[in-house]
Amino acid sequence: MTTQTPSKGLEGIVAGHTALSTVGKEGKGLTYRGYKIEDLAGQTTFEEVAYLLLYGELPNANALAEYRRRLASLRQLPAPLKTVLEQLPATSHPMDVMRTGCSVLGCLEPEEGLTGKSNGTPIADRLLGCFTSMLLYWHHYHKTGVRIDTRADGDTIAGHFLRLLHNAPPIPAHERALDASLTLYAEHEFNASTFAARIVTSTLSDTYSAITAGIGALRGPLHGGANEAAIELILRFATPDEAEKALIEMLARKEKVMGFGHRVYRISDPRSEVVQPIAKQMSDAAGDKRIYAVAERIETVMRREKKLFPNLDFYSAVAYHLMGIPAPMFTPLFVVARTTGWAAHVAEQRADNRLIRPTAEYVGPDPRPVPPIDRRASPKV
Ligand code: COA
Repeated sequence: MTTQTPSKGLEGIVAGHTALSTVGKEGKGLTYRGYKIEDLAGQTTFEEVAYLLLYGELPNANALAEYRRRLASLRQLPAPLKTVLEQLPATSHPMDVMRTGCSVLGCLEPEEGLTGKSNGTPIADRLLGCFTSMLLYWHHYHKTGVRIDTRADGDTIAGHFLRLLHNAPPIPAHERALDASLTLYAEHEFNASTFAARIVTSTLSDTYSAITAGIGALRGPLHGGANEAAIELILRFATPDEAEKALIEMLARKEKVMGFGHRVYRISDPRSEVVQPIAKQMSDAAGDKRIYAVAERIETVMRREKKLFPNLDFYSAVAYHLMGIPAPMFTPLFVVARTTGWAAHVAEQRADNRLIRPTAEYVGPDPRPVPPIDRRASPKV
């Protein structure tokens, strides 16, 4: 039995082991299975990173080609899932569509052998193959009534998403940029959604349940939802000066500016340093410098006034917007990427499992008798 003072938000608590990534570790920075994030984003594709996380090592050329073919063969959606996507409201948030789609697939293609030791990797591959299909099937059906064919062969996951979104071959620079951002989003140790997925796994539940829980946790603006919130803020301003004035007012009201700060990083987010130049390239290529200029000014104000730095979500949001991706799809792209990290953590948790069940310090009333019903001070409902 422990008597420690609770750590609010579990800050600073070491809650387990992982061999998947280092986040903010002295002398290591951000690495996936020992590889620096900067090297992975610059020299590999997202499918290679997915393979690394899920299968343990980077693939050689043959293994990569085979893995790409396998993911491409998993893009189709079962008919009952399409029916559910058609029945969801057009006004649903795409994160709710992803969460529901994942859960429905868990009914249609359930995970075999829930002994707690089975390998959830086939489920991860299936979801990697079809998450973009789910999102864009739902999107086009509700926008135009068209039931799109989601089985486009030959593309990367980034290319498949852009092709289905725009109904046109992806622009190579956009595909490369999106691909790199998926690598940056793929894995990040015991963040809230991954920890949620590990908690679910620790009860010997299935991979779909763990990933559905991860999506639920990722949806909030303090976590993955920050990228959507960041672009909403940036788009409010016509000029950098207007942004600066509004930011100072927001900070005076103690409002949070989404896309800044981090629980673990204290000086900078290494992923932001990779994605910011990508956003700049997108801005130069788009010929629309306003959004990037506003974003840069927000960064300047946050550094000057709060000593806060942009996290991955801030400039990813700028890059995604400049690729023509609708803001409500930003966090779903994070889901696509993080499915690799979540599933790798599911496997790691299963390999050395113990039920995750902390305790709480009780701060409620002392033990007391139940009063008769006519003597209760009921709060108003
Ligand atoms: N904008 C304004 N102020 C911020 C801030 C932000 N983005 N992030 C932190 N702060 C301030 C808090 O208001 C608080 O100030 P106070 O001590 O005067 O009350 C202080 O910094 C500590 O913030 P706190 O929320 O307790 O830190 P945390 O470690 O729990 O938070 C985050 C980490 C990520 C939740 C937090 O930085 C945040 O909310 N950021 C915005 C959401 C976001 O971008 N999330 C994606 C993370 S990758």
